[in-house]
Order: sequence, then C-alpha cells, then structure tokens
Amino acid sequence: MRNFELYVPTKVIFGEGEIQKLKTEVPADKKILLLYGGGSIKKNGIYEQVISALEQHEVVEFSGIEANPEYTTLLKALEVIKSENIGFMLAVGGGSVIDGVKFLASAALYEGDNPWDILARKIRTFKGLPFGTVLTLPATGSEMNSGAVVSRSETNEKLVMGGPGLFPKFSICDPTVVRSIPTRQLANGIADAYTHVLEQYMTYPAHAPLQDRFSEAILQTLIEIAPTVMKDPNNYKAAANFMWCCTMALNGYIQKGVPTDWSIHVIAHELTAFYGIDHARTLAVILPSAYTKKFEQKKEKLAQYAERIFNMQDGTLEEKAKFAIHKTEEFYQSLGIKTRLRDYTDTYEGFSHKVAKSLTEHGLTALGEHQDITPEIAAEIVEMAY
Ligand code: NZQ
Ligand code: ZN
Repeated sequence: MRNFELYVPTKVIFGEGEIQKLKTEVPADKKILLLYGGGSIKKNGIYEQVISALEQHEVVEFSGIEANPEYTTLLKALEVIKSENIGFMLAVGGGSVIDGVKFLASAALYEGDNPWDILARKIRTFKGLPFGTVLTLPATGSEMNSGAVVSRSETNEKLVMGGPGLFPKFSICDPTVVRSIPTRQLANGIADAYTHVLEQYMTYPAHAPLQDRFSEAILQTLIEIAPTVMKDPNNYKAAANFMWCCTMALNGYIQKGVPTDWSIHVIAHELTAFYGIDHARTLAVILPSAYTKKFEQKKEKLAQYAERIFNMQDGTLEEKAKFAIHKTEEFYQSLGIKTRLRDYTDTYEGFSHKVAKSLTEHGLTALGEHQDITPEIAAEIVEMAY
C-alpha cells in the first residue's frame, strides 16, 4: 500500500428531516448568500425548508446556476459576494451548484486579476470563503470533497479545480430529496458514482484488499439498488443507500493508498465542453473504449471485478476481463444510458482531433495510472467510442 494522508473535514448530516439543522449549522453572525440552480428547489419544497430554517439569519439569494456551472454566471455571483460583503455561502443543489460555490469560495479570496486562472493555471485553493451545502441530487460526491468542475461554453472549456480550502463546512444529505429527481438525472447519478469507483479501482493490483473491497461494496450496492431507485424514487430505503453510495464513491476514502486513473473523466469532460452532453453519459461513452485500449494494463483488476461483482468464476483471465467491460456497458444501458458518441450527435467526425488539441492546450498530456495516455491515445479512445 502507498503512503497517504487523509483529510476530510466536512461534517455530514444525513437523514430525513435534517435540513432544519441549518438553523444551528449556518453561522448567525455573518451575512449569508444562498445559491441554487434553475428552480427545482422551488417546486419540491426544499426552498421552503431552507428559508424556514434560516428565518433568523440575514440571507441574500443568487439563483440560476446551470447544470455544468458556467463561468460567466459565477462571475455575477462573485459581484454579489463582494458588494454585499458575504461571510458564508450555502449551496442548495446538485454537483453543479456545489461546484459553482466552490469556485466562488476560491475566487472571493483570490488576489490575482483574472479568476479564470484558478482553473486554467491549476491554482490550488488553500483558503476559501466558508460554505455549507444542502445536497439535492446524489451523484458527484461534491458534498464531501474539495474538487469542482467549471464550464466556459464560449470557449468550449470544462476544467477542474480544487484544494484543501474547498471542503464544505457541512453537508446536509436528506434522502427524501430523491423523490422529485427526474429519471434521467437518477440514471446520471447512479452512473456517475459507479464510474467514480471504477476510476479509483480499475488500475492494477496494489496490495490494498481493504480499499478494493470498499470499492466493490459500493459497486455492488449501486447495482442492487439501481432498479428500485429508477422505478420508485419514493422508496426511502433505496434512496438513502443511493445517496450514501454516491458520497462514499468520491469523498477520498477509497482512493487512499492506491493508484487512480481519472483519464475517463478528463477525456469525457471534453464531450460536455463541445456537445453539452450530461456528465454521466459522457463517462458511459468513453469507459468501454478506454478499458479496451488499456486492456493489457488493466486486465488483472478487470478480471477481479468480473469475479467479485459479476460472479464469473470460469474462463481465462482475458475472458473474465472482457466480460467485465461488456457487463459495465450493459449496466449503463440498463439505466437507459446510451454508450456511443453517435447516439448523442451526428457531428462526431474529426472530433477526436479537437479533443487531442484541447488536452494538449490544457497540459493534460500524461493521463491514467501510468501517465501514458497521451493526447494521441486519448484521440484513439474517442474514435473507438464513435
Ligand atoms: O438547476 P435545478 O433547477 O436545480 O435542476 C437540476 C439540474 O437541472 C436538477 N435537480 C437537482 N436536484 C433536483 C433536481 N431536479 C429535481 N429534484 C431535485 N431534487 O438536476 C439537474 C442536474 O443537476 P446537476 O447539479 O448539474 O447534476 P450533477 O449533480 O450530476 O452535477 C454535474 C456536475 O458536477 C460535475 C460535473 O462535471 C457536472 O458539471 N462533477 C463534479 C465532481 C466533483 N465536484 O467532485 C465530480 C464529478 O465527476 C463531476 O465531474
Ligand atoms: Zn463524475
């Protein structure tokens, strides 16, 4: 096992009815900026619960953070933070709102001239404006990690940022929010969390059986609960397990002491940047060809995954590993997610070159657990996914 440091300071408050705890968790001596998305929280009762819990607080609102949060929108929120002298932010939403707020936490204290540099120049954030979250969509794990992804559609860019100053102070995770989530977003959440686990698991054996089994437990649980969550989002038991799986998939625990990949995410972000495809769907498009391309390096873990998750005991290592890729693609499809780029756009010819160019421009030239996925190889992976 590799050496590691584990620092996850976010307080998680989990369960039905816990949104009212905002009353005591949100500091009373600071002006609060409440941030949310396109308005789903006004239709499902979450907004009322938040406002009622914060009735003793001084609250300013900013709404309209879109899915795949846009840099230009966030700059408007940044102006509000400065003009209103905001001391604490509350993100109420899914990964997009939470990530947008993480960008703002960093940008509010950033001393440079151009906040885009935080993303473009990969500037880590060691101190941010403090914030908490109320999670409305299980998927990204952003509620318990310190990473964020921000989009800039004018330039077809979607970039990652992070740093220890960007952990939420607290996150309230009430599984009853799942009731109002549309089927498409439920599928996205399950697929995103599932892929997060695989990005941290599907590398090579690293003498870390506990981390492997943590990962396998999350995968197995997601497979088990997915049909119920999709059919009946009102099922609290399934929703609670769905929500906790998503948080555990990307809160840092399963990646400690082991190699990680993340090339699927980096390549897939380009599909959102150019075509606006939902994040989780871009992962389902890229993963099968990424694992096929890196088959030799990943086959031992692929075979272990086939044995332990899909119960394939017979056959050679290679047969098991191939079966694992096939079963993963089938799992995405069972959620109604298509796994080819041509299912989402007609204009994919030549796109692989754009991906290679963008990865080169952003210095993303050595991806994967062996840092051997060059922009040219990434382009081949994208072509295999057409
Ligand atoms: O904007 P509103 O009206 O709230 O609607 C949202 C949005 O349209 C809706 N929604 C959220 N909660 C709902 C609901 N609708 C009904 N009932 C509810 N309870 O769902 C739509 C999608 O929301 P979004 O926040 O975009 O989804 P998700 O949580 O999947 O976040 C995706 C973003 O997170 C990034 C992705 O790249 C993408 O930008 N990621 C962030 C990560 C991180 N910070 O660790 C890791 C991930 O890999 C990912 O890259
Ligand atoms: Zn993801």
